[in-house]
Amino acid sequence: MNYFDYRGGRLHAEGVPLATIAAEVGTPAYVYSAATLRRHYKVFAGALASASPGVKHLICYSLKANSNQAVIRVLADLGSGADVVSLGELRRALAAGIPGGKIVFSGVGKTAPEMRAALEAGIRQFNVESEPELEVLAAVAGSMGLRAPVAFRVNPDVDAETHAKISTGKKENKFGVPFERAREIYRWAATHPSIEIVGVDVHIGSQLTNLTPFERAFAKVAELVHALRDDGHAIRSVDLGGGLGIPYERNAPWPHPDAYAGVVQRTVGNLGCELIFEPGRMIAGNAGVLMASVIYVKQGQDRKFIILDAAMNDLIRPAMYDARHEVMTEREPAPDSAFEKVDLVGPVCESGDMFARDCEVPPLAAGDIVCFETAGAYGAVMSSTYNTRPLVAEVMVDGDRFAVVRPREDLESLIARDQIPEWLRGGAA
Ligand code: LLP
Repeated sequence: MNYFDYRGGRLHAEGVPLATIAAEVGTPAYVYSAATLRRHYKVFAGALASASPGVKHLICYSLKANSNQAVIRVLADLGSGADVVSLGELRRALAAGIPGGKIVFSGVGKTAPEMRAALEAGIRQFNVESEPELEVLAAVAGSMGLRAPVAFRVNPDVDAETHAKISTGKKENKFGVPFERAREIYRWAATHPSIEIVGVDVHIGSQLTNLTPFERAFAKVAELVHALRDDGHAIRSVDLGGGLGIPYERNAPWPHPDAYAGVVQRTVGNLGCELIFEPGRMIAGNAGVLMASVIYVKQGQDRKFIILDAAMNDLIRPAMYDARHEVMTEREPAPDSAFEKVDLVGPVCESGDMFARDCEVPPLAAGDIVCFETAGAYGAVMSSTYNTRPLVAEVMVDGDRFAVVRPREDLESLIARDQIPEWLRGGAA
């Protein structure tokens, strides 16, 4: 469910015509809907509250999905915490108004300076992924005279049944500590005076459309919590990560948050633990579109190419994960319009720079605007300046208002970041 719809034949984001944004801000641009962000957060929170009444929940929105501060602020205002994986994300979360006490720090490669900053911010917990990481954290916390709150991320060796590049819970993946060794690792960790064991963490992958892998992983976590308590650890929180899948293609089956919340209740609902969640995609995915203009319509030997001003550097998901993002034209297709099969491509010099192959679209001409749906998560955050293409503008719509929440990158300053070393400055021979 989102708020990108046709009104009077023109595509709107909530109350604002996309054409108005395009005229003012230009294309390509990401457009986010605040109402959709709020709705998704509330649907998720509501599902958890009704499946597990009386169980404390903390939703830590996973910033990696979309870390624009306006997006974070919308969620912070609803009470969201943050899941961060770098000093940069930590700073963004704090700058957007998320209190340290609602921040969890994930990731396999936290550095000592990152740990120090997180401890200074008083974060809720570190999701520790290895023994060497724990040793560094213990040393950093000790040097600050603090105790670091720790949950180990366990690797339950469960197949998430999602794309291999975003599957994280199998033992061949780099994530988490081996499930079999978890008790031993907790026992060892508890001997460090500057470490406070607070919980257990798991995250098995992203874009899960089948709930069974969650059920398997969460059941293993519940088993572990009992074992750890038997070993004398005071386990008070369980962090279940993110990963809930969303529909990218119209009419695709997808798991409803209510069903996910049912799995949560069945597996870990009665542990007496506070439950932490790190949803990213299910909050932000359908809350954003990438808007692009047609540059050329090109007839190839036997295919028609619609060449857009957006490219793989702006939205890498199709090239990287073979992801399909549905397309909406800015003008609503007439009921009798003859759709044709085209390839929607960008101007970057790679054949992989393709948004959609054999896509059915109404007739398009140069200057027309199209939007790729479900681009609110892992869109702008994964963009690059490949081919020296400046990062695109990001816009937030909220009711009838809209604002640029990140201006289009300026080409001059992009180029000015390079520096020619002194010894090359003599001029061409
Ligand atoms: N927590 C942890 C520890 C994670 O690694 C992730 C995602 C999340 C939470 C949020 O997962 P979500 O609820 O968004 O599924 N770039 C890929 C997705 C990478 C996900 C990485 N980790 C894509 O575009 O599909």
